[in-house]
Amino acid sequence: MSDARWETVDHYIEHLLVRRDAGMEAALRESAAAGLPTIQVSPLQGKSLQLLVASLGVRRVLEIGTLGGYSAIWMARALPSHGRIVTLEADPRHAEVARSNFARARVSEKIEVRVGPALKTLPDLAREGGEPFDLVFIDADKPNTAAYFDWAMRLARPGAVIVVDNVVRQGALADPSNPDSSVRGMRRFLERVAAEPRAEGTVVQTVGAKGYDGFALVRVAPPTPSPAEPDESKRPRVG
Ligand code: SAH
Ligand code: DHB
Ligand code: MG
Repeated sequence: MSDARWETVDHYIEHLLVRRDAGMEAALRESAAAGLPTIQVSPLQGKSLQLLVASLGVRRVLEIGTLGGYSAIWMARALPSHGRIVTLEADPRHAEVARSNFARARVSEKIEVRVGPALKTLPDLAREGGEPFDLVFIDADKPNTAAYFDWAMRLARPGAVIVVDNVVRQGALADPSNPDSSVRGMRRFLERVAAEPRAEGTVVQTVGAKGYDGFALVRVAPPTPSPAEPDESKRPRVG
């Protein structure tokens, strides 16, 4: 499913609103030269992620699915100097290309790449008990999306935002009999969101240079001050 106008309009907007960035352009070039699949976010989608990072005041990002690091560079550009991205990648070749792209784009000190299947590296992150994440971008193997969402709920702070790419799948999402494991994975993920009392979500359908698809936006419930619990700041301290 495609329409020439989708790409034409994407390019029109891109030329108006997206400033050239040598680091990002090099990342695209080097990723293609290394034979990586060209399935990174489009420039306009990358800029959407960047605006989310900037407008939410995000300091810590978790990304699942690095590829050549293009989406991570978009987000890194909007982080404060103490901001950090942890990005998870199963394929060591992709991780290596991403690391050299990060160096060229001068964002290496903000981005940590962890190599291995995310279902292996996510439990490590939980065990290490680092600071929670303000934004999670899920964009890896689609059949595991529901499991990644569960980990995101665990690793994100209250009030955090979870973005999930490639949810609509040319409309296949709405077909309950579609046997494709990615479609089924996205349906399972959305059912999980629906059943999760600590999350509110929506899906934005998109057309553009990458065809017909869409992304999910999920907000983790913000902290609710419970009347039963005294305010932490007013509790008398002992010791
Ligand atoms: N976010 C990137 C695109 C990611 S493409 C961008 O927009 O620039 C999806 C990536 O997920 C691929 O690099 C693929 O190797 C990786 N991936 C696939 N299965 C994975 C898994 N089980 N764990 C972690 N990464 C995985
Ligand atoms: C594929 C993966 C993506 O994350 C994407 O945005 C487009 C395509 C893929 O695996 O084909
Ligand atoms: Mg994607």
